[in-house]
Amino acid sequence: MAVNLKGRDLLSLLHLNLEEIVQILEYAQALKLKHYAGEPHRNLEGKSIAMLFEKPSLRTRVSFEVGMSHLGGSAVYLSPLDVKMGKREAVADIAKVLSRYVNGIVARVMSHQTVIDLANYASVPVINALCDTYHPCQVLADLLTIWEKKNELEGLKFAFVGDGNNMTNSLMLGCATVGMDVSIATPEGYEPKPSMVEQAREIASAKGSEVEITNEPKTAVDEADVVYTDVWTGMGQEGETERRLRDFAGYGLTTELLSHASPDAVLLHCLPAHYGEEITFDLVHDDPRSAVFDQAENRMHAQKAVLSLLL
Ligand code: CP
Ligand code: NVA
Repeated sequence: MAVNLKGRDLLSLLHLNLEEIVQILEYAQALKLKHYAGEPHRNLEGKSIAMLFEKPSLRTRVSFEVGMSHLGGSAVYLSPLDVKMGKREAVADIAKVLSRYVNGIVARVMSHQTVIDLANYASVPVINALCDTYHPCQVLADLLTIWEKKNELEGLKFAFVGDGNNMTNSLMLGCATVGMDVSIATPEGYEPKPSMVEQAREIASAKGSEVEITNEPKTAVDEADVVYTDVWTGMGQEGETERRLRDFAGYGLTTELLSHASPDAVLLHCLPAHYGEEITFDLVHDDPRSAVFDQAENRMHAQKAVLSLLL
């Protein structure tokens, strides 16, 4: 029987088990097929969401807004200048007021605590659209992309080379939950937090898979089925760019490094990319292994499934 996600929040992948992730991915694929067949799928006719953003966005904003309109609903975007969470107005008040107008809140915030606070006070589902610690919607789209390309998830080797950041945390959790072996290569001092690794390892051990943390990109990429990277300097870290460029030298994805992966590896990047740093323009645009733009498209299909199931 299908699991019931109605009314739930999506703050991190810690709160989604394998069955729930599979349900979201299967539903996303069904909605994607309907979209391409031009078949109506107005699951959320008359419903609306508020999109509360403290940081810039291209993919997340457009994929949620357009996705909501495909589903027959509407989305109201609130920019960092509109709301000023906790400054112009208390987070609790924002959550309670929005709950009187809309059926769901999609929030991109500085601190994970803000989505927790929103969820505590809102009476409608809250969806984390990126915070300092997680990016669960991105990883649902990533898993959908890997599944489409590889026809399976369990047992694959997933490699990440770069910063132990919000993407890394969500990727470790998502990949561990579906039974992939995870190997993360970061420079020394940029590893994901031990508490995050512990949580991912606990989930992985239940599936008999592994989460490896290394400082050696080749070790991570060796025979990997999926190779993933993200920027070295994330949103809000611009003041650290110079230091990070120095510390991450040698951690960029190159054709040479990718030659150690499985010959039919899938190459992913959540975007935006900093070309010439963590990856080159050519690898993203011209390499046959790149699924980066399918991945970006899948943000919309995965989120349409999340919205349909939660709202
Ligand atoms: N990948 C992603 O979340 O992109 P945006 O920051 O453009 O939304
Ligand atoms: N690590 C990135 C993810 C962007 C989608 C950031 O938070 O800037």
